Amino acid sequence: MAHYQHRGSIPPKRHTQHRRPDGGLYYEELMGEEGFSSDSSLLYHRTIPSAIVDARTWVLSDQQTVPNEPLLPRHLKLHELFTDADADTTDVVTGRRLVLGNEDVRISYAVSRAASPLYRNAVGDECVYVESGAATVETVFGNLDARQGDYVLVPRATTHRWIPTGDEVLRAYCIEANSHITPPHRYLSRFGQLLEHSPFCERDLHGPSEPPNVAETDVEVYLKHRGSGPGGITGSVHVVPHHPFDVIGWDGCLYPYTFNVADYEPITGRVHQPPPAHQVFEGHNFVICNFVPRKVDYHPLSIPVPYYHSNVDSDEVMFYVDGDYEARKGSGIGKGSVSLHPGGHAHGPQPGAAEASIGKHYFDELAVMVDTFRPLELGEAGRACDDGAYAGSWNRTRG
Ligand SMILES: [Fe+2]
Repeated sequence: MAHYQHRGSIPPKRHTQHRRPDGGLYYEELMGEEGFSSDSSLLYHRTIPSAIVDARTWVLSDQQTVPNEPLLPRHLKLHELFTDADADTTDVVTGRRLVLGNEDVRISYAVSRAASPLYRNAVGDECVYVESGAATVETVFGNLDARQGDYVLVPRATTHRWIPTGDEVLRAYCIEANSHITPPHRYLSRFGQLLEHSPFCERDLHGPSEPPNVAETDVEVYLKHRGSGPGGITGSVHVVPHHPFDVIGWDGCLYPYTFNVADYEPITGRVHQPPPAHQVFEGHNFVICNFVPRKVDYHPLSIPVPYYHSNVDSDEVMFYVDGDYEARKGSGIGKGSVSLHPGGHAHGPQPGAAEASIGKHYFDELAVMVDTFRPLELGEAGRACDDGAYAGSWNRTRG
């Protein structure tokens, strides 16, 4: 993010004395990416941010994956993974169940009414899509209000916690990168401003409130970090002597933020627009796109649903959030479904869907797509909610 922000109390010059009312120094921390050579922020703490009084292992939920072999397109029914009662005792951090993953990105799902512990993902950035419900995401930078349809972007190693709010259960589709997640570079000027052709701009990105400045002692922080576990990921718990939310001010270009999918302005055309026209974010070796309610193709002979496509370098994961997905009619796919269309298999509309779409002017559909450039494997949750029948759905006559 090159969108400079500041909150709270900061000194006029960086790396200079910033003193408390009692005359002592605040503790300056630089949080920066790519070895002091990319975006960063400076945070001013009341207590030393390095202090640790104890550490133990955090046994992560099952992170093992198995190859998608024999190669098949799959339909995963995420809403079958949790009961409503599960949500009372599940939080969005420790309760995540792994659906799909590879060396670059992991997709997991959680349903929650419970507050999470303090959490820091030191493996990579997170992009959590709020399928339903609402939450306050408390972070070391300040609070984010997360609501249905929000992407919550949390930079690597940002200490935070999820507190569900409101009556509706919080459903979170969690995209964890091994890298950073940013708007596509082609949307950005060479200095980092979102360009006129971008489907969203800085006004649509919502950063944290004022820093929280919490005073508590002996606090646990759950860390996910590079290590010896499955996928090279391990969990640890640090007990720290002072609450990490002791920041009195910060400034810079690195901070968590939200972007609501309803603020994405779709790009449409006379004929079918390819998925890159729907892109919202990117990480290393994957992209995130969204298909939002929109006017569809208006050439007099257009076919609004996609052509069959073999995107030979990608595995494609579509999460169907809302509406009525025209191309998938007759496949059993509905709200809460995930389709996995792996590289090496040409996919497209189910039988009859292309003809049925002709003459439509508007698609009332909402889906979040992750395309990965390396093959995805199935996590325990992906295997648990696989409908086992989707691969045959193109053989049936639409009825
Ligand atoms: Fe596709």
